[in-house]
Amino acid sequence: MSKSTAVTYDYGVVRAFSIMTVVWGIVGMLVGVIIAAQMAWPELNMGIPWLSFGRLRPLHTNAVIFAFGGCALFATSYYVVQRTSQTPLFLNGLAWFTFWGWQLVIVLAAVTLPLGMTSSKEYAELEWPIDLLIAVVWVSYAVVFFGTIARRKVSHIYVANWFFGAYILTVALLHIVNSAAMPVSLTKSYSAYPGAIDAMVQWWYGHNAVGFFLTAGFLGMMYYFIPKAAGRPVYSYRLSVVHFWALIFTYMWAGPHHLHYTALPDWAQSIGMIFSLILLAPSWGGMINGIMTLSGAWHKLRDDPILKFLIVSLSFYGMSTFEGPMMSIKTVNALSHYTDWTIGHVHSGALGWVGLITMGSIYYLLPRLYGRTEMYSMKLVTLHFWIATIGIVLYIAAMWIAGVMQGLMWRAVNEDGTLTYTFIESIKATYPFYTIRLLGGLLYLGGMCVMGYNVYRTVRAGRPVDDPVPAALAHA
Ligand code: HEM
Ligand code: HEM
Repeated sequence: MSKSTAVTYDYGVVRAFSIMTVVWGIVGMLVGVIIAAQMAWPELNMGIPWLSFGRLRPLHTNAVIFAFGGCALFATSYYVVQRTSQTPLFLNGLAWFTFWGWQLVIVLAAVTLPLGMTSSKEYAELEWPIDLLIAVVWVSYAVVFFGTIARRKVSHIYVANWFFGAYILTVALLHIVNSAAMPVSLTKSYSAYPGAIDAMVQWWYGHNAVGFFLTAGFLGMMYYFIPKAAGRPVYSYRLSVVHFWALIFTYMWAGPHHLHYTALPDWAQSIGMIFSLILLAPSWGGMINGIMTLSGAWHKLRDDPILKFLIVSLSFYGMSTFEGPMMSIKTVNALSHYTDWTIGHVHSGALGWVGLITMGSIYYLLPRLYGRTEMYSMKLVTLHFWIATIGIVLYIAAMWIAGVMQGLMWRAVNEDGTLTYTFIESIKATYPFYTIRLLGGLLYLGGMCVMGYNVYRTVRAGRPVDDPVPAALAHA
């Protein structure tokens, strides 16, 4: 809070998380570009273990999901919960603890993963001492967020906070259950669960990490920043409530689609498939609600690059949540699993949905945190939008073609029952697509660097400003 007598919102921690979103975005995507280059030219491993693909890949996923995405979620949830509750943060000091604690987690990840220390659970690779730190930071986050809601000055809890709240609670549950392990040393532990149960728990975690970390939290962003940027209320508030309950109920059961044709009982796989198909409905309901918020104001899309980011992100959300249910159908999964089709699906969600909605929200938010009406250069925002979009299209189109090609080559058989292609032939055929993916990744990273420059100039030209809490409500 500022030292003036007026009560102000606590924007300091929001500023810190917003800036780190951009910094970690550049770092995480740079590592993505490096591993994309390694897939096109494997010699780039250079024989150095900590530069090898196997170690840099989890560094990439952790950096983009938890550092870039995580900082964006902290920044926007802390901003939105204060504005919509019309009260400063509950325990601002604890919020600052979550900032430094989260940065420490990221730095520890950046050191231990290249050294090869890993629990080997995807998206939960960090070893147990770091897991404990994450749990402490996350519980503190929940205290700040729900404490702020508890002392809100308006009776209503705006729908964005429902999504942020569900993401915070669920990620706590997922992290604590999936990380249960028996430590054998400071840097090595073994999962508490045996065999197929371990796989089930891991993909219950993994899928809901997508559903709650990469989706519900970002839907919270959508429900605040799209109406703000469009200057219109949410298209249907009733639909947003149905969207919320349907989405959080359904996501929980879809995890087994990651384990088709494995030792997991067949009925569990089928349940995963059925719930994944049902998931199409709430996902599209939410997308339509977001896009239709612009109805009557479509012309704004022509001139406002921030709206372009926000609305195009929803189109990618719709695309990946159509593709996901299709891929969860067992016969389709028999073709797509293990191929680059999965990587294409991941990045249409990650670059298209998560990346673009984050960028749009930060472009909207940042100038307001620094006493300016808009970014230093809106032309650069437009430039960023176009190079990022072209980058995504190159990335995902290359991976879709490569993926379907790989799936078809692997299952092709000759009349005498022998395989038509050797595995290495499929790899050789994939190389051109890896180069196109690298080009797409370079464009996307380039856009992020443009954003970094624009953010730097905006911060330098502005000054930190904390808006006053509306007086009539501050003591209501
Ligand atoms: C410049 C941008 C990016 C590039 C060049 C890039 C590149 C890559 C590459 C090469 C892989 C390994 C693929 C494989 O093992 O075959 C990968 C995996 C992954 N990336 Fe990215 N990436 C980028 C941005 C992002 C972002 C922004 C996110 C999330 C918000 C993300 C999330 C992931 C995930 C979740 C995986 C693991 C996929 C799986 O296991 O199926 N990436 N990325
Ligand atoms: C209705 C929504 C969705 C459904 C039903 C769904 C379904 C699926 C399926 C069937 C797979 C392939 C599993 C396999 O063969 O191993 C998959 C992989 C994946 N999806 Fe989705 N998806 C959805 C939305 C999304 C979104 C919006 C994102 C990103 C923001 C995303 C991120 C991922 C990731 C990261 C993986 C790779 C997991 C791994 O193997 O490492 N998904 N999804």
